[in-house]
Amino acid sequence: MNILAIETSCDETAAAIVKDGRFVLSTIVASQAQLHARYGGVVPEVAARKHVESIVPVIDRALHQASCDQERIDMIAVTVGPGLVSSLLIGVDAARSLAYGWGKKVIPVNHMLGHVYANQILKLQRRKIQGASDFTFPSICLTVSGGHTDLILIKSHKKFELLGSTLDDAAGEAFDKVASLLGLGYPGGPVVSKMAQKSSRSLRLSRQYRLPSPLIDQNNFDFSFSGLKTAVRNLVEQQKGRQGQGRNKKKEPLSTKDVQLICSEFERVVVKVLLHKTFKAVTRYKVKNVMLAGGVAANARLRSEFAREARKLGILFSYPLIQLCTDNAAMIGAAAFFQKNKAMLPDKIRVDLRSSII
Ligand code: KG4
Ligand code: ZN
Repeated sequence: MNILAIETSCDETAAAIVKDGRFVLSTIVASQAQLHARYGGVVPEVAARKHVESIVPVIDRALHQASCDQERIDMIAVTVGPGLVSSLLIGVDAARSLAYGWGKKVIPVNHMLGHVYANQILKLQRRKIQGASDFTFPSICLTVSGGHTDLILIKSHKKFELLGSTLDDAAGEAFDKVASLLGLGYPGGPVVSKMAQKSSRSLRLSRQYRLPSPLIDQNNFDFSFSGLKTAVRNLVEQQKGRQGQGRNKKKEPLSTKDVQLICSEFERVVVKVLLHKTFKAVTRYKVKNVMLAGGVAANARLRSEFAREARKLGILFSYPLIQLCTDNAAMIGAAAFFQKNKAMLPDKIRVDLRSSII
């Protein structure tokens, strides 16, 4: 079964053709990151306008890359939420129009569920992917993106339970805000991670900078990252003040070494909290399979610490290919295959204004 999937929930215009929920025949992602970088974050009106421009060429390219025409497409899938409403509308309208024209049904897909199913993809343009396999139920998936931090218990392809989520900022949002505080640009995750990797080990061990681990001791599966951002801001101000002393008390910019150390400490604490809560859930629900998903799952430290902990417990661990961690339509096509019972006639498809996976 070939599904044409469309994703426009935030600042990526994406289309893909996915066979049987596991094999990606084509995947096209037109990222708007550069466009939004100058504003330090996604501007909804700018994003929607860009989607209007890109959606038809992106779908065209996806069909072309897969050497597919409408005859070989069985159904159309589209992200209906959560996301920016003005962006979602462009994808939903495109899916509806194509479905009318081609006489197909449309499968509505939850964006967060899409991220989870990036773990189900076995082949991407004929390259085998290590670690990816069918879900073993029950599974736990930590979905960490720019908009969400969700800990999800997956009991079957039809049954999901949200165990906990962030009470304020999402993990990716925290990376983005810390990057902006440190003048590192947008998106923040990759650059903060790169700076953290460059920090010197001996300086890290000197514990010059220490940040709190929010909610780590609380007996729930919720997260909170906005306090951490404030703690980073205080650290930056303190350090600037310290450097300025003796020089007419003028605040100095942080040195590259300081920025690297702060990035490393920030990343350490975020990974520690995510790891602690996820594996607490793994033990509580006796799951045999733990997964990462979402843009922050591209983080090398997060992946390696999850892999180590899973090895210790003797359970399966999977994560999507780097290019399938951030927003794409292949994951939407994969999720749609397992949700095809929800397929509807094009005039029924709507943006879903609820923000959660359930
Ligand atoms: O899933 P995604 O593409 O979009 C949303 O649905 O939000 O996630 C984007 C988020 C951004 O906040 C970005 O900073 C973060 O993922 N991200 C990372 C890394 N790569 C992307 N965070 C930490 N480390 C990374 N290597
Ligand atoms: Zn996303």
